[in-house]
Amino acid sequence: MTTDTGPALISYAAYDEYIGVQRLHALLQPRTANPAEVSFIVATQVMELLFGLLRHEWTAAQDALRTDDLAGAEAALRRGLAVQSRLVDSWDLLAGLTPPEFNAFRAELGEASGFQSATYLQLQFLLGHKATSMIDAYRELPDVHADLTALIAAPSLYDDVLAFLHRQGLPIPGDHLQRDLQAPYQCREEVTQAWRLVYKAPRDSPLVRFAEVLVDLAELSTRWRQRHLNAVKRTIGDKPGTGGSSGLTWLRRSADRDDFPELWAARDGMQ
Ligand code: HEM
Repeated sequence: MTTDTGPALISYAAYDEYIGVQRLHALLQPRTANPAEVSFIVATQVMELLFGLLRHEWTAAQDALRTDDLAGAEAALRRGLAVQSRLVDSWDLLAGLTPPEFNAFRAELGEASGFQSATYLQLQFLLGHKATSMIDAYRELPDVHADLTALIAAPSLYDDVLAFLHRQGLPIPGDHLQRDLQAPYQCREEVTQAWRLVYKAPRDSPLVRFAEVLVDLAELSTRWRQRHLNAVKRTIGDKPGTGGSSGLTWLRRSADRDDFPELWAARDGMQ
């Protein structure tokens, strides 16, 4: 016999304790009475959480690649693609933000800018966009500084992909894998050639499928930057950013940058 008294007997604190609901909502602390500020803070917090989840999936993909588990790496990156799609969609939360609405609370940001997001920077390092000059700025946050210092010296997700291809017998030069990992990634023609060899296999071969997941990842990463650029254009136009950059000019350069450059360059010469 079933009973409908069950739920009343269980603790309703369990959900709050597990998810941290009260602590989570307590993190929303607008500084003005402007309702648009609430959307802005929530949109930014949601994106931060999604950046963290993405870092988790990309790190899982790296772990899988290091044990030559290509299927495991692909599964982690596909979960990551779902996260990236949500990141792109998250811009909808700010789509209706007008310049006067944003200007009503912009002064509260002070020097704060998404540019200072260490989680975003970690993702950039994982993509191979390394820049030692970025780390020093986090010296007031010792844990963050230590994480970034460790991550910049470690192989990026792309480095792990190339090391995997090398172990599979593809002609990725050994000295490329041994280079200074803290330096910004430089394209190598041999790597471009190796990707062209990958694409000679049938469409449904594991390596071609994996390469296409990497292209999807790179495309979604560009789309996030382009939607950010449009949000900036809509709300502040060509004004300088709170983080001290020129704003649109600086962001356009960043939005133009390709992740996994040889995967794109390889397409120029594919049959
Ligand atoms: C409409 C609201 C927003 C405006 C006007 C805006 C403006 C800007 C500007 C001007 C920059 C360049 C750096 C600077 O000088 O500050 C920047 C960078 C950045 N912003 Fe935003 N932002 C907005 C929303 C967001 C949100 C919601 C996020 C989510 C976390 C975010 C994350 C970032 C990141 C990660 C960068 C560095 C981008 C890169 O390195 O390419 N921004 N933002």
